[in-house]
Amino acid sequence: MEFLLDAIKVRYSNEAKTNCCLSCGSALEYAEPQAGEILVDLGSGRGNDVIKASKLVGRAGKSIGIDITPDMIQVAMDKAKKLNLKNVEFILSNFEEIPLDSSFVDVVISNCSINHAKEKEKVFKEIYRILKPGGRFVISDVIAEYELPEEIKNDPIAWSQCYGGAIPKEEYFKCISKAGFREILILEESEPYQKERALVRSLTIKSYKEVE
Ligand SMILES: C[S@@+](CC[C@H](N)C(=O)[O-])C[C@H]1O[C@@H](n2cnc3c(N)ncnc32)[C@H](O)[C@@H]1O
Repeated sequence: MEFLLDAIKVRYSNEAKTNCCLSCGSALEYAEPQAGEILVDLGSGRGNDVIKASKLVGRAGKSIGIDITPDMIQVAMDKAKKLNLKNVEFILSNFEEIPLDSSFVDVVISNCSINHAKEKEKVFKEIYRILKPGGRFVISDVIAEYELPEEIKNDPIAWSQCYGGAIPKEEYFKCISKAGFREILILEESEPYQKERALVRSLTIKSYKEVE
């Protein structure tokens, strides 16, 4: 488990100060954050979506980024400081254990990050826990066309490159349902494409935490 995280952190430390695109969808645009809302971005990288969202939620709201790579958090914090943003926070954390209160957040977004999680069901349980009743998530991610072979699943470099941890759609949706979410809306789904040694798709989905 640690060896997977180490490979992920090495890759993203190297990417922190580059401009290369790390996204696989438009989660933020679909999430449509509103003034006064609290938004959390899981795997916030260089912080660009958190900063964009901070303008949408305004001073009455808050935009929070969570990322496991210290260099990513540093780059994101430097940007927010330069812009003098007061409603932004970046937290160095694994999104399998989110250090936020339960029922605290209006909207969770994530772009091309949850594929890296070894325990995806745990991530969705955390999303469910931190969302307020009626809150929503919009997630863009990479899913596999088929169950990947063991040699890819056990390769930390493949995990760090956004395909070793990719799972088939049915399995991904099962993790979401087991966490408590009911309906899952597919907002965008690409055609299958080859990513290094795996056939994958990009998917953007949305769901709500129901009001009891
Ligand atoms: C492909 S990048 C996407 C960054 C950003 N969302 C974007 O679209 O530009 C994935 C990010 O997820 C972070 N990450 C990977 N595994 C994580 C974990 N278990 N917990 C928190 N962050 C993680 C990485 O450090 C990296 O910054």
